[in-house]
Amino acid sequence: MQDQLIIFDTTMRDGEQSPGAAMTRDDKIRIGKQLERLRVDVIEAGFAASSPGDFEAIRAVAAAVKDSTVCSLARANDNDVARAGEAIRGANRGRVHTFIATSPIHMKHKLRMEPDQVLEAAVRAVKQARQYTDDVEFSAEDAVRSEVDFLCRIFEAAIKAGATTINVPDTVGYSVPQHWGDLFRSLITRVPNSDKAVWSTHCHNDLGMAVANSLSAVLAGARQVECTINGLGERAGNASLEEIVMAVKTRSDVFKCGVGIDATQIVPASKLVSTITGYPVQPNKAVVGANAFAHESGIHQDGVLKHRETYEIMRASDVGWGANRLSLGKLSGRSAFRNRLQELGIAIASEEALNAAFKRFKELADKKREIFDEDIQAIMSDEAVTPEREHYMLVSLTAHSETGEQPYARIVISEEGRERHSEARGAGPVDATFQALESLAGSGAELLLYSVNNVTEGTDSQGEVTVRLSKAGRIVNGMGADTDIVVASAKAYINALNKLEHKSRVNPQYGAEAETV
Ligand code: KIV
Ligand code: ZN
Repeated sequence: MQDQLIIFDTTMRDGEQSPGAAMTRDDKIRIGKQLERLRVDVIEAGFAASSPGDFEAIRAVAAAVKDSTVCSLARANDNDVARAGEAIRGANRGRVHTFIATSPIHMKHKLRMEPDQVLEAAVRAVKQARQYTDDVEFSAEDAVRSEVDFLCRIFEAAIKAGATTINVPDTVGYSVPQHWGDLFRSLITRVPNSDKAVWSTHCHNDLGMAVANSLSAVLAGARQVECTINGLGERAGNASLEEIVMAVKTRSDVFKCGVGIDATQIVPASKLVSTITGYPVQPNKAVVGANAFAHESGIHQDGVLKHRETYEIMRASDVGWGANRLSLGKLSGRSAFRNRLQELGIAIASEEALNAAFKRFKELADKKREIFDEDIQAIMSDEAVTPEREHYMLVSLTAHSETGEQPYARIVISEEGRERHSEARGAGPVDATFQALESLAGSGAELLLYSVNNVTEGTDSQGEVTVRLSKAGRIVNGMGADTDIVVASAKAYINALNKLEHKSRVNPQYGAEAETV
């Protein structure tokens, strides 16, 4: 019997720690449902003790997801473990993931605890977590810089206390593949009860080796990989799920373990996470980048046309490229629209929100021949359909550009229901629009990123714009979608301004309650 590799997705926990990638409860339900379609084994939905909002979001994901295990992170203390246990209570299968740092540098400077105190806290947390579920994971944060003897001691104790998964994180992305594989071999050999737990790897990408390190751990006996869609995560991110999965599937001769993932759901998952977080996917990104299957050179094109395998090791359609489903058409009615939203796992808060979304859909269907699932996802991430009344809303926009003339924009927004007008000139119509908006909002925020991506193929595609703003140490990503990219840009800027207004949308991981993570 072939071993099965457990895919543990932490897009909604570690991925959410990327600047500006905070997700709302509804965002998490949508991502959770897509991860379930992808047949991810374990979904880490958040960090329950970090904020009441994240607690509720985990609860909602636990209720919505039926097939995957839903997990919450918890530091090794009574309050965190209790919050995590409560948050996953409604799940069909729930896991508590508790962690504590084990490296000398973290124990001394961050925790200010002696190794024996750390071990005691780990054991206590695991035992407490077992009161909520039989599925308990223990992680030794910064394992990469920890002493191997101490790791062996704490892992043996955690397994004895009831941990069923032992996770070994390269928290700072410091390892190299050979070292990481050797560490796993050594731990699995030396920990006397190692056969009572699943060994897991969790790698960060600071030196660009997160995927290579994770795969090296798999070769050394790890049977769970923690990873994220598009490699999202703290700093340079985590190991990317799509690369891990496709490496194991494509090189089954090397890895010799199965994965339960439905790879055709990879590209839709990548697009959804990108839409929701505002983190675009680089075109040359493996598997999910727009160029991942594009052949530019004549020799390659000729070879592929004659025999696909000459230059392709995977089929684009196997990972979901070109599979974008024609979702609805111009004549589709309100109930077909509502059904499709349900199938996509999109929760609609009220009839008012459904009406606003349906109106946006009809407007889009008038401009665009075919509406795909990606279009629906983009519509639902749009400012115009958010149920709560936003501080700023776009009323109208005129943008003008002509060769030899300086572009200008005239904009009308409503601020808490009161209409305000402005116009400005700029280097281009988008620049003019942003200047006009800034003269009204006066946020003083710094623009860190502006990017445009097409949602589907063709020049009638919606443009999806991300605007990243920074103000007083807070970073937010605003998103907007429209077939007119100047309008999409205005929506994205307004969305970012609204997020700066909403204190509750601060990334929960950075909240005061979570300072020591
Ligand atoms: O990188 C890390 O160490 C983590 C742990 C909390 C698992 O994310
Ligand atoms: Zn991490």
